[in-house]
Amino acid sequence: MNKKFLYLETYGCQMNEYDSDRIRNSVDLEITQDPQKADVVIINTCAIREKADQKAFSSLGRFKHLKAKNPNLIVGIAGCVAQLYGEKLLKKIPHLDLVLGPRAIPSLPKLLTQIEKEKMRNVETSLDLEEIFEVEPYHENGKVSAFVSVQQGCNKTCSYCIVPFVRGKEINRPLNDILTETKNLLTKGVREVTLIGQTVNSWKANGYKFGDLLRKVAEIKELLRIRFTTSYPRDVTKKMIYAMREAPKVCHHIHLPVQSGSNRILAMMKRTYTKESYLDIIKALRESIPDIAITTDLIVGFPGETEQDFNETLELIKEVEFDTSFSFKFSPRPGTPAAESNKLVPEIISNKRLAMLQNIQKEITIRKNQKKVGTVEEVLVEGESRNDPSWQSGRNTHNQIVNSPGPLSLKGKIVNVRISEGLQNSLRGELLQ
Ligand code: 5AD
Repeated sequence: MNKKFLYLETYGCQMNEYDSDRIRNSVDLEITQDPQKADVVIINTCAIREKADQKAFSSLGRFKHLKAKNPNLIVGIAGCVAQLYGEKLLKKIPHLDLVLGPRAIPSLPKLLTQIEKEKMRNVETSLDLEEIFEVEPYHENGKVSAFVSVQQGCNKTCSYCIVPFVRGKEINRPLNDILTETKNLLTKGVREVTLIGQTVNSWKANGYKFGDLLRKVAEIKELLRIRFTTSYPRDVTKKMIYAMREAPKVCHHIHLPVQSGSNRILAMMKRTYTKESYLDIIKALRESIPDIAITTDLIVGFPGETEQDFNETLELIKEVEFDTSFSFKFSPRPGTPAAESNKLVPEIISNKRLAMLQNIQKEITIRKNQKKVGTVEEVLVEGESRNDPSWQSGRNTHNQIVNSPGPLSLKGKIVNVRISEGLQNSLRGELLQ
């Protein structure tokens, strides 16, 4: 029998990328990059902001004609938008056959067979499903760096955030499964893992805490590097910091979303820390790991944000000097408490604040990157640079992209690069033999 083809598009966070690998691995279908060739199309979606969820709909819209031409084509939506709107999507999108929530991936093969055999439409979005973490979810793609999920869902209650609604309560993965999956990845050429979870450092299982997890993963011999994301400020512990300092494989980078520099806004966001306590965490991290790179997420225009609140965010950015940051305009998400507020900040003001903040961050980032000129960075080579195959691209411990001329045979190895140029989003340099 001829093999059938899956065309899969992925939007959103690392968790979605990881889930897409699980989808690819769970079905008995060849992967195609050409939707025209596909028997099954799945769009793995993100609901974090309104724009992301609109993208899901426009992306699905593109398959209407294909479905009209080929009625046997199965069109599915997966991920957080699938979870958020559930069954309603079938009404809204007549050419849709499948709605698959993030906790339902293990049921995918069964659901596809039903759709094919019984010519039915299928929805699976229960969050009570017992999540099954496979230990080989990786889809062979020759990558040096791979994600390993250590946690599903989120137990925090940030007032703006849709994640707990669409990904359910926190479930932590057992230590041994994480270790087994990491070892499996090494047999496929992977040399670096990024442990992922919505609040990755709140991980605890089998009597172990996150700091222990870092040390245990670091014991795996052939593994060169460990990263993790995203950390939640209140869950940064001494144990975690010491593990970062003492296990040489653990990279010196933390992504630590602060969201705002105003205590008033932080309280409304239900972030459970203050500007002062956040700064204490930064201090503790820098005392133990002086070269640590700290990156963050910020939201501007949270309902009720005044000029003064916003200025406090700018002050915080200047004080911490984040290596880089991701900043977003507040977007009301259905069902979240913050979406109920009647104190919305006008779009024109949010736009202005976002631009201002991003300009300040850009200056800090470029200044810090230019300071690296002349230093020697250890870079794990990930493969040919996209623009020029005679250049290799990798990352330093601080999670910065470093490009340098060199042969592809360096892929998967740690090399020394002397930095000659510091740009906004990357560094360039020369390979040292
Ligand atoms: N509006 C804008 N940004 C949001 N984020 C999460 N929810 C919202 C929202 N409703 C941002 C936060 C988070 C990042 C992943 O997305 O900054 O850290």
